[in-house]
Amino acid sequence: MNKEKVGKFYDVVWTEYIPEYEKTKNHWNIFYSEKEAEGKSVLDAGCGTGIFSIIFAKNGAGKVTGIDISEGSLETARSLADKFDLKNTEFRKEDMLALPFSDEYFDIVWAWGTVHHTTDPFKAIDNLIRVLRKGGSILLAVYTRTRLTFIHEIIRKTLVLMPRKSWTFLSKVMALFLAPVVFFFKKREKSRQGEKLEELILDWYFVPIRHYYTPDEIRSYLEERGFEIEKFLPASGRFNSTSNFIFKARKTG
Ligand SMILES: C[S@@+](CC[C@H](N)C(=O)[O-])C[C@H]1O[C@@H](n2cnc3c(N)ncnc32)[C@H](O)[C@@H]1O
Repeated sequence: MNKEKVGKFYDVVWTEYIPEYEKTKNHWNIFYSEKEAEGKSVLDAGCGTGIFSIIFAKNGAGKVTGIDISEGSLETARSLADKFDLKNTEFRKEDMLALPFSDEYFDIVWAWGTVHHTTDPFKAIDNLIRVLRKGGSILLAVYTRTRLTFIHEIIRKTLVLMPRKSWTFLSKVMALFLAPVVFFFKKREKSRQGEKLEELILDWYFVPIRHYYTPDEIRSYLEERGFEIEKFLPASGRFNSTSNFIFKARKTG
């Protein structure tokens, strides 16, 4: 049931908001180059609008498979692929917790901001590890647990009780009130590049499932499973947001 709620939530978010290609591509380049993507088979797990699938597909990848549980997101992703006239993408409704692909099927697994929205994030990571070939790389962007997490959770758990139809409106109203605060903290202004404040609020406070971790928890989970960490960013490059951290790691074991 929770999974369906998450899918329906992203049916709203990813049919209204599409991240900008150029800004997102700059962000992608922090982790991958065209050379590294060249000819690779890529899984974009929880692809949302498919923006990262499009970037991989346009910049060398051989075949990109975007999966999501939200049909609305997948429709957005398919039309984005049509817009860019891409023939090497496929978008499928699949659950990260029950991946239908054989072991070691992909060269690259990209999971930006997704495992923490599943009912069992470590099971999701295990599945992503299973379908990644030895020598391949995984990218995980995960929400950071901080001392303020419990406050955000109280607000989120209250707001998700509101009727679903009011969520977009409420996030717009909250954005109106929070805009001066955001303006005041210059750093946050930078974090908004490529995304609207109302979208950030919607994604942050209205999502039905969200888990948080510390970088150490994810680092040791990956290392214990034979991964070498290639890159760690304590904040997200796309929005320079400290709400998530990112690991790029290579499967050696
Ligand atoms: C915050 S969005 C990130 C979208 C995209 N990766 C991006 O960065 O633009 C999280 C996405 O994960 C998807 N998702 C959540 N649980 C999932 C699951 N169990 N299997 C597949 N996708 C899932 C949601 O539907 C949503 O599109």
